[in-house]
Amino acid sequence: MTDAKPIRVWDPVVRLFHWSLVAGFTLNMFVWTDGALLHRYIGYALLGLIAVRLVWALIGTPYARFSSFVPTPGRLFDYIGKLLRGREPRYVGHNPVGALMMIALVGLMAGCGLTGWMMETDAFWGNEAVEEVHETLAWLILALAGLHIVAAVIESFRHRENLILSMLTGRKRAPVAEDVNHAPAADRR
Ligand code: HEM
Ligand code: HEM
Repeated sequence: MTDAKPIRVWDPVVRLFHWSLVAGFTLNMFVWTDGALLHRYIGYALLGLIAVRLVWALIGTPYARFSSFVPTPGRLFDYIGKLLRGREPRYVGHNPVGALMMIALVGLMAGCGLTGWMMETDAFWGNEAVEEVHETLAWLILALAGLHIVAAVIESFRHRENLILSMLTGRKRAPVAEDVNHAPAADRR
């Protein structure tokens, strides 16, 4: 533990992206599920958000960048090994397994949006296979999101910090020597 002030980790783009993704997905999955106008607009908005986030992963603040969180296979397996022994270090940014989950969720969401758009094109109009893929991707996202939330709660207890609150405020506990920090140049304020 440290008495140092919390640092800024998740910038407003990351936080807005995250909670908009959650809201848009929830609306399309449970509220406007019929593929009508609102469903389509929300789907396109989600695709737009993903495009912005991908650009932000190249030019954004340090912890938002791919370079700070996409794990090498070595780092990923090292982390999984430590996780299985209950000795995983605290990451200031996304941990390697969390990063993998993020990439999976964003990839599946993009696939869901693209198959949604395909259903509206002349080439795939009424194509049941595309419809099936669209729905399957949505259910897969739901299942992975469930796992993602459970993992966020467990890791919050393990490292004694509320990761969900951090996704709202952007702030996290200042790192100590044992923590892994791949973006030490982050804007500390
Ligand atoms: C990326 C976010 C999206 C999610 C999570 C999503 C989710 C879903 C789900 C779960 C269903 C099945 C509803 C049910 O049968 O109860 C569905 C149906 C549908 N979606 Fe999406 N969707 C998304 C984006 C889109 C987009 C961008 C379009 C079109 C531009 C679209 C067009 C449709 C259509 C036309 C249906 C009805 C298919 C049918 O006739 O059964 N969706 N969507
Ligand atoms: C459909 C539902 C969800 C999707 C698709 C989703 C997706 C994501 C993505 C893409 C990120 C990475 C953010 C970035 O770097 O841009 C992320 C991080 C995070 N999400 Fe979610 N999320 C969902 C639901 C939730 C919910 C409901 C919670 C909380 C109750 C949550 C808690 C978190 C936390 C705490 C992080 C940061 C993890 C870390 O500290 O490394 N997510 N999520």
